[in-house]
Amino acid sequence: MSLEDRYPSVADLAAKARRRIPHFIFEYIDSGTGAEAGLERSLSAFQDIQMWPGVMAGTFEPEMAVELWGTRYAAPFGIAPMGMVGLMWPGTEIALAKAAQKAQIPMCLSTMANANPEAVGRHVGDMGWFQLYPPRDPEIREDLLARAKANGWKVLVVTVDVPVGSSRERQRRAGVRLGLPQRPLQMIDIPFRLPWLYALWQHGRPRFWTVEPYTGGPSLKAFGEYLATQVDMTPSWEYLAELRDLWDGPLVVKGILRPEDAERCVAMGVDGIGVSSHGARQLDAVPAAIDALPAVKSVVGDRAKIVFDSGLRGGLDIARALALGADMCLLGRAFGYGAGALGLKGPAHVAKMLRDDLRNVMIQMGAHRLEDLPGCLVKKEGWPSNAALR
Ligand code: FNR
Ligand code: LAC
Repeated sequence: MSLEDRYPSVADLAAKARRRIPHFIFEYIDSGTGAEAGLERSLSAFQDIQMWPGVMAGTFEPEMAVELWGTRYAAPFGIAPMGMVGLMWPGTEIALAKAAQKAQIPMCLSTMANANPEAVGRHVGDMGWFQLYPPRDPEIREDLLARAKANGWKVLVVTVDVPVGSSRERQRRAGVRLGLPQRPLQMIDIPFRLPWLYALWQHGRPRFWTVEPYTGGPSLKAFGEYLATQVDMTPSWEYLAELRDLWDGPLVVKGILRPEDAERCVAMGVDGIGVSSHGARQLDAVPAAIDALPAVKSVVGDRAKIVFDSGLRGGLDIARALALGADMCLLGRAFGYGAGALGLKGPAHVAKMLRDDLRNVMIQMGAHRLEDLPGCLVKKEGWPSNAALR
């Protein structure tokens, strides 16, 4: 049976990952925060967005390529930044980069990934985006940006929606921390996850390589201290202005939901607005990012690109977000589940699944081009016109 038939959807990969990787790391990927109402909403809101099927549109191959800031991507979706991906499956970062390069879709590497921009950059080709958790120390900041640039990371994504850690009850119960859980009982299932354990043994324990030059080595304690003291989780607008001056490539601000914040970013010369609720992992009361998208698109117009994430689980969701004004969609958990379920083969499988799915739904809707998608929406009150959406 082919992989496509065994794992035809992201939900199948999630179910497999749950059985294949240690409980604490599955909980790290899967969970939201609080009562997880925000997480549920981020998924269910997509189900309320209906689209008309298209008829008699002829035989055609939908055109899915998009160009953002001078780079052509073969499809309008990519890989969202994820911390600790080396626990999902040891070595996942490079598998993600290779999958991105092969599918010609963007891969965003997190500052908190378990591989650095040097090692991953060799595999990502032109497809690399680098996500920054903002360093306070100007020298560290400059050094990190210079490393990203020198290693081929083209787009800088600064995350602004984690002003403080969130409660994440499921993660705490499961013993999620920077390394392995502290309490032996929370690791009880690890010996039963033999392929994962073997991969970990081969790969070595996950480290936070990107910031090790600034923490003085692999110590997790030093990394924890670095996070607590050296990372500015609440960057100010002035900080953003400085970043804008320092980075001469495309700059995306990730974690915007309110139109007025989007407006302010655009006015400061930001190239991309990252409409995102951080996968509803921070504030449980957050609206579904997809519900926030049309109003942001209305104010941004064509002045900046819209990079959307949070709650996307398939090609149809991607089509819905594109129809509502996104230029590029990023998926986090879908790729995380893929790695957990299938190891290093996971990322390429997810990319193919999403592409096939998007192609299929575009044909269902008679949409030849991405620009046709707004016209397929069953319109709701308050949404911008088709012309304003793409
Ligand atoms: C994240 N996210 C995230 N974002 C970021 O800017 N830096 C990071 O290090 C991380 N780490 C991270 C780890 C894991 C396990 C997840 C699931 C998410 C948020 C991520 O980039 C993205 O916003 C969400 O994952 C999008 O929602 P979906 O696709 O997971 O529903
Ligand atoms: C998370 C952090 C790493 O969502 O952004 O887990």
